[in-house]
Amino acid sequence: MSTASPTPDSQLAAVLDAFDGDAEAAAKALRELAHNRQRESAPVKDRSGAAVVVKLANVNREYKLGKNKVGAVREVSLDLRQGEFVAITGPSGSGKSTLLNLIGGLDKPDSGQVEVDGKDLSKLSDNKLSEFRNATVGFVFQFFYLQPFLTVRTNLEVPAMFARLPRADRAERITELAEAVGMTDRLNHLPKELSGGQMQRAAIARALLNRPKLILADEPTGNVDRENAKAIIELFAKVRDKYDTTVVIVTHDPEVANQADRTISLRDGRIV
Ligand SMILES: Nc1ncnc2c1ncn2[C@@H]1O[C@H](COP(=O)(O)OP(=O)(O)OP(=O)(O)O)[C@@H](O)[C@H]1O
Ligand SMILES: [Mg+2]
Repeated sequence: MSTASPTPDSQLAAVLDAFDGDAEAAAKALRELAHNRQRESAPVKDRSGAAVVVKLANVNREYKLGKNKVGAVREVSLDLRQGEFVAITGPSGSGKSTLLNLIGGLDKPDSGQVEVDGKDLSKLSDNKLSEFRNATVGFVFQFFYLQPFLTVRTNLEVPAMFARLPRADRAERITELAEAVGMTDRLNHLPKELSGGQMQRAAIARALLNRPKLILADEPTGNVDRENAKAIIELFAKVRDKYDTTVVIVTHDPEVANQADRTISLRDGRIV
Protein backbone atom coordinates (compact mmCIF):
# COMPACT_ATOMS: atom_id res chain seq x y z
CA MET A 1 0.00 0.00 0.00
CA SER A 2 1.35 3.41 -0.80
CA THR A 3 0.50 6.44 1.26
CA ALA A 4 1.30 10.01 0.38
CA SER A 5 4.11 11.31 2.56
CA PRO A 6 2.71 13.58 5.27
CA THR A 7 3.13 17.30 4.81
CA PRO A 8 4.63 19.29 7.70
CA ASP A 9 1.19 20.75 8.46
CA SER A 10 -0.48 17.38 8.53
CA GLN A 11 2.27 16.12 10.85
CA LEU A 12 1.62 19.04 13.15
CA ALA A 13 -2.12 18.43 13.11
CA ALA A 14 -1.51 14.75 13.89
CA VAL A 15 0.59 15.68 16.92
CA LEU A 16 -2.03 18.06 18.22
CA ASP A 17 -4.79 15.48 17.69
CA ALA A 18 -2.91 12.64 19.30
CA PHE A 19 -2.02 14.58 22.42
CA ASP A 20 -5.26 16.42 22.92
CA GLY A 21 -5.36 17.33 26.62
CA ASP A 22 -1.82 16.16 27.39
CA ALA A 23 0.24 19.30 27.06
CA GLU A 24 3.52 17.77 28.22
CA ALA A 25 3.41 14.89 25.75
CA ALA A 26 2.38 17.25 22.96
CA ALA A 27 5.28 19.56 23.75
CA LYS A 28 7.70 16.61 23.65
CA ALA A 29 6.35 15.40 20.32
CA LEU A 30 6.54 18.91 18.92
CA ARG A 31 10.17 19.22 20.00
CA GLU A 32 10.91 15.96 18.21
CA LEU A 33 9.10 17.15 15.10
CA ALA A 34 11.04 20.43 15.14
CA HIS A 35 14.29 18.52 15.60
CA ASN A 36 13.52 16.25 12.64
CA ARG A 37 12.63 19.18 10.43
CA GLN A 38 15.85 20.89 11.34
CA ARG A 39 17.72 17.75 10.39
CA GLU A 40 15.90 17.42 7.08
CA SER A 41 16.83 20.96 6.13
CA ALA A 42 20.39 20.82 7.49
CA PRO A 43 22.49 22.91 5.13
CA VAL A 44 24.90 21.16 2.80
CA LYS A 45 28.39 21.41 4.26
CA ASP A 46 30.24 24.32 2.73
CA ARG A 47 33.04 22.88 0.62
CA SER A 48 33.96 26.04 -1.22
CA GLY A 49 37.40 25.87 0.42
CA ALA A 50 37.97 22.19 -0.38
CA ALA A 51 40.41 21.09 -3.08
CA VAL A 52 39.07 20.84 -6.64
CA VAL A 53 39.32 17.14 -7.51
CA VAL A 54 37.70 17.31 -10.95
CA LYS A 55 38.07 20.26 -13.29
CA LEU A 56 36.56 20.30 -16.75
CA ALA A 57 37.11 23.27 -19.07
CA ASN A 58 35.16 23.61 -22.34
CA VAL A 59 35.01 19.89 -22.91
CA ASN A 60 33.57 18.56 -26.17
CA ARG A 61 33.04 15.00 -27.30
CA GLU A 62 31.53 14.20 -30.67
CA TYR A 63 30.47 10.95 -32.24
CA LYS A 64 30.25 10.46 -35.96
CA LEU A 65 27.13 8.74 -37.18
CA GLY A 66 27.57 8.29 -40.93
CA LYS A 67 27.88 11.81 -42.25
CA ASN A 68 26.38 13.38 -39.17
CA LYS A 69 28.14 14.38 -36.00
CA VAL A 70 26.47 14.09 -32.64
CA GLY A 71 27.70 16.41 -29.91
CA ALA A 72 27.45 14.01 -26.96
CA VAL A 73 29.11 16.51 -24.59
CA ARG A 74 29.31 20.19 -25.54
CA GLU A 75 31.31 22.97 -23.96
CA VAL A 76 31.05 21.48 -20.48
CA SER A 77 32.97 23.24 -17.73
CA LEU A 78 32.67 22.26 -14.10
CA ASP A 79 34.53 21.99 -10.81
CA LEU A 80 33.89 19.21 -8.33
CA ARG A 81 35.43 19.53 -4.90
CA GLN A 82 36.74 16.97 -2.49
CA GLY A 83 33.91 15.44 -0.50
CA GLU A 84 31.14 16.65 -2.79
CA PHE A 85 28.24 14.33 -3.57
CA VAL A 86 26.93 15.27 -7.00
CA ALA A 87 24.10 13.86 -9.09
CA ILE A 88 24.10 14.11 -12.89
CA THR A 89 20.63 13.98 -14.39
CA GLY A 90 19.10 14.48 -17.81
CA PRO A 91 17.06 12.63 -20.43
CA SER A 92 18.29 9.54 -22.21
CA GLY A 93 20.97 10.49 -24.74
CA SER A 94 21.80 13.81 -23.02
CA GLY A 95 25.44 12.81 -22.49
CA LYS A 96 25.53 11.63 -18.88
CA SER A 97 27.51 8.43 -19.46
CA THR A 98 29.82 10.16 -21.92
CA LEU A 99 30.56 12.83 -19.33
CA LEU A 100 31.22 10.25 -16.63
CA ASN A 101 33.57 8.32 -18.93
CA LEU A 102 35.49 11.51 -19.71
CA ILE A 103 35.88 12.33 -16.02
CA GLY A 104 37.09 8.80 -15.30
CA GLY A 105 39.61 8.74 -18.14
CA LEU A 106 37.79 5.97 -20.00
CA ASP A 107 37.23 8.31 -22.93
CA LYS A 108 39.06 11.35 -24.31
CA PRO A 109 37.57 14.70 -25.28
CA ASP A 110 37.89 16.07 -28.83
CA SER A 111 38.68 19.43 -27.29
CA GLY A 112 38.85 21.00 -23.85
CA GLN A 113 40.59 19.87 -20.71
CA VAL A 114 39.86 17.22 -18.12
CA GLU A 115 41.90 17.50 -14.96
CA VAL A 116 41.46 15.01 -12.14
CA ASP A 117 43.40 15.04 -8.88
CA GLY A 118 45.74 17.63 -10.40
CA LYS A 119 46.49 15.55 -13.50
CA ASP A 120 45.70 16.64 -17.04
CA LEU A 121 44.35 13.34 -18.35
CA SER A 122 45.18 14.16 -21.98
CA LYS A 123 48.88 14.22 -21.03
CA LEU A 124 48.94 10.71 -19.55
CA SER A 125 50.17 7.72 -21.54
CA ASP A 126 47.82 4.75 -21.70
CA ASN A 127 49.80 3.03 -18.94
CA LYS A 128 49.74 6.08 -16.69
CA LEU A 129 46.06 6.53 -17.43
CA SER A 130 45.20 3.04 -16.31
CA GLU A 131 47.40 3.49 -13.24
CA PHE A 132 45.52 6.70 -12.51
CA ARG A 133 42.15 4.98 -12.87
CA ASN A 134 43.14 2.13 -10.61
CA ALA A 135 44.54 4.39 -7.90
CA THR A 136 42.11 7.29 -7.98
CA VAL A 137 38.75 6.25 -9.39
CA GLY A 138 36.16 3.71 -8.26
CA PHE A 139 33.75 2.91 -11.09
CA VAL A 140 30.27 1.54 -10.56
CA PHE A 141 28.40 0.70 -13.74
CA GLN A 142 24.76 -0.05 -14.30
CA PHE A 143 25.64 -3.56 -15.40
CA PHE A 144 27.95 -4.89 -12.85
CA TYR A 145 30.80 -6.45 -14.79
CA LEU A 146 31.59 -8.94 -12.07
CA GLN A 147 33.82 -11.69 -13.38
CA PRO A 148 31.46 -14.68 -13.71
CA PHE A 149 33.99 -17.39 -12.85
CA LEU A 150 35.36 -15.71 -9.73
CA THR A 151 33.72 -15.72 -6.32
CA VAL A 152 32.50 -12.45 -4.87
CA ARG A 153 35.56 -12.40 -2.59
CA THR A 154 37.99 -12.71 -5.50
CA ASN A 155 36.04 -10.18 -7.55
CA LEU A 156 36.49 -7.71 -4.70
CA GLU A 157 40.14 -8.58 -4.29
CA VAL A 158 41.35 -8.17 -7.88
CA PRO A 159 41.59 -4.33 -8.04
CA ALA A 160 43.33 -4.30 -4.66
CA MET A 161 45.86 -6.80 -5.99
CA PHE A 162 46.56 -4.54 -8.97
CA ALA A 163 47.04 -1.71 -6.50
CA ARG A 164 49.54 -3.94 -4.63
CA LEU A 165 47.69 -3.74 -1.36
CA PRO A 166 49.18 -6.33 1.02
CA ARG A 167 47.17 -9.53 1.46
CA ALA A 168 46.27 -8.89 5.11
CA ASP A 169 44.96 -5.40 4.30
CA ARG A 170 42.95 -6.81 1.42
CA ALA A 171 41.34 -9.38 3.67
CA GLU A 172 40.56 -6.77 6.29
CA ARG A 173 38.97 -4.38 3.83
CA ILE A 174 36.95 -7.14 2.19
CA THR A 175 35.54 -8.13 5.57
CA GLU A 176 34.74 -4.52 6.43
CA LEU A 177 33.13 -3.69 3.10
CA ALA A 178 31.21 -6.95 2.78
CA GLU A 179 29.65 -6.13 6.11
CA ALA A 180 28.91 -2.54 5.07
CA VAL A 181 27.04 -3.75 1.97
CA GLY A 182 25.40 -6.71 3.71
CA MET A 183 27.26 -9.36 1.71
CA THR A 184 29.23 -11.17 4.41
CA ASP A 185 27.41 -14.45 3.83
CA ARG A 186 27.79 -14.24 0.05
CA LEU A 187 31.56 -13.81 -0.26
CA ASN A 188 32.16 -17.37 -1.42
CA HIS A 189 29.35 -17.33 -3.98
CA LEU A 190 29.62 -16.85 -7.72
CA PRO A 191 27.92 -13.80 -9.26
CA LYS A 192 25.25 -15.97 -10.95
CA GLU A 193 24.10 -17.06 -7.50
CA LEU A 194 23.29 -13.48 -6.48
CA SER A 195 20.24 -11.28 -6.95
CA GLY A 196 20.54 -8.06 -8.98
CA GLY A 197 20.70 -5.95 -5.81
CA GLN A 198 23.39 -8.20 -4.32
CA MET A 199 25.45 -8.03 -7.53
CA GLN A 200 25.24 -4.28 -7.49
CA ARG A 201 26.28 -4.15 -3.83
CA ALA A 202 29.24 -6.43 -4.58
CA ALA A 203 30.24 -4.18 -7.49
CA ILE A 204 30.06 -1.17 -5.19
CA ALA A 205 32.19 -2.87 -2.54
CA ARG A 206 34.73 -3.67 -5.26
CA ALA A 207 34.78 -0.02 -6.40
CA LEU A 208 35.39 1.12 -2.82
CA LEU A 209 38.11 -1.34 -1.93
CA ASN A 210 41.04 0.84 -2.96
CA ARG A 211 39.50 3.81 -1.12
CA PRO A 212 39.40 5.89 -4.29
CA LYS A 213 39.40 9.65 -4.10
CA LEU A 214 36.62 9.74 -6.66
CA ILE A 215 33.64 7.45 -7.14
CA LEU A 216 31.86 7.52 -10.51
CA ALA A 217 28.61 5.59 -10.59
CA ASP A 218 26.46 5.28 -13.72
CA GLU A 219 22.87 4.53 -12.71
CA PRO A 220 23.97 2.57 -9.63
CA THR A 221 20.35 2.17 -8.55
CA GLY A 222 18.93 1.55 -12.03
CA ASN A 223 18.38 -2.18 -11.60
CA VAL A 224 17.47 -2.47 -7.94
CA ASP A 225 14.31 -1.95 -5.90
CA ARG A 226 13.61 1.11 -3.81
CA GLU A 227 14.95 -0.40 -0.61
CA ASN A 228 18.26 -1.42 -2.21
CA ALA A 229 18.47 1.97 -3.92
CA LYS A 230 18.16 3.69 -0.57
CA ALA A 231 20.82 1.45 0.97
CA ILE A 232 23.20 2.13 -1.93
CA ILE A 233 22.84 5.89 -1.67
CA GLU A 234 23.27 5.74 2.11
CA LEU A 235 26.43 3.72 1.61
CA PHE A 236 27.89 6.33 -0.77
CA ALA A 237 26.99 9.07 1.71
CA LYS A 238 28.69 7.13 4.51
CA VAL A 239 31.84 6.61 2.47
CA ARG A 240 31.91 10.29 1.60
CA ASP A 241 31.52 11.25 5.26
CA LYS A 242 34.21 8.83 6.38
CA TYR A 243 36.86 9.33 3.68
CA ASP A 244 35.94 12.69 2.15
CA THR A 245 35.46 10.92 -1.18
CA THR A 246 34.02 12.86 -4.10
CA VAL A 247 30.97 10.96 -5.34
CA VAL A 248 29.36 11.46 -8.75
CA ILE A 249 26.26 9.48 -9.61
CA VAL A 250 24.27 9.48 -12.81
CA THR A 251 20.61 8.92 -12.09
CA HIS A 252 17.15 9.17 -13.61
CA ASP A 253 15.58 8.97 -10.19
CA PRO A 254 14.65 12.34 -8.63
CA GLU A 255 14.55 10.76 -5.18
CA VAL A 256 18.15 9.61 -5.57
CA ALA A 257 19.23 12.98 -7.01
CA ASN A 258 17.63 14.67 -3.99
CA GLN A 259 20.13 12.99 -1.69
CA ALA A 260 23.06 14.68 -3.43
CA ASP A 261 24.55 18.03 -2.41
CA ARG A 262 23.88 19.36 -5.87
CA THR A 263 22.56 18.28 -9.22
CA ILE A 264 24.07 18.89 -12.63
CA SER A 265 21.44 18.68 -15.37
CA LEU A 266 22.33 17.88 -18.95
CA ARG A 267 20.31 18.50 -22.12
CA ASP A 268 21.77 17.64 -25.52
CA GLY A 269 25.26 17.45 -24.07
CA ARG A 270 25.14 20.83 -22.35
CA ILE A 271 24.79 21.76 -18.71
CA VAL A 272 21.47 23.54 -18.22
N1 LIG B 1 29.84 4.90 -29.09
C1 LIG B 1 28.98 5.78 -29.59
N2 LIG B 1 28.88 5.98 -30.94
C2 LIG B 1 28.04 6.89 -31.45
N3 LIG B 1 27.24 7.67 -30.70
C3 LIG B 1 27.29 7.52 -29.37
C4 LIG B 1 28.14 6.57 -28.74
N4 LIG B 1 27.99 6.66 -27.40
C5 LIG B 1 27.05 7.62 -27.20
N5 LIG B 1 26.63 8.14 -28.38
C6 LIG B 1 25.65 9.21 -28.56
O1 LIG B 1 26.01 10.30 -27.72
C7 LIG B 1 24.86 10.84 -27.07
C8 LIG B 1 25.03 10.77 -25.55
O2 LIG B 1 25.05 9.41 -25.13
P1 LIG B 1 25.18 8.97 -23.62
O3 LIG B 1 25.34 7.50 -23.60
O4 LIG B 1 26.23 9.78 -22.97
O5 LIG B 1 23.76 9.42 -23.04
P2 LIG B 1 23.11 9.16 -21.59
O6 LIG B 1 22.66 10.49 -21.10
O7 LIG B 1 24.05 8.39 -20.74
O8 LIG B 1 21.83 8.30 -21.95
P3 LIG B 1 21.10 7.12 -21.10
O9 LIG B 1 20.32 7.81 -20.02
O10 LIG B 1 20.20 6.50 -22.11
O11 LIG B 1 22.14 6.20 -20.57
C9 LIG B 1 23.67 10.06 -27.60
O12 LIG B 1 23.10 10.80 -28.65
C10 LIG B 1 24.27 8.77 -28.11
O13 LIG B 1 23.53 8.26 -29.17
MG1 LIG C 1 23.97 6.45 -19.92
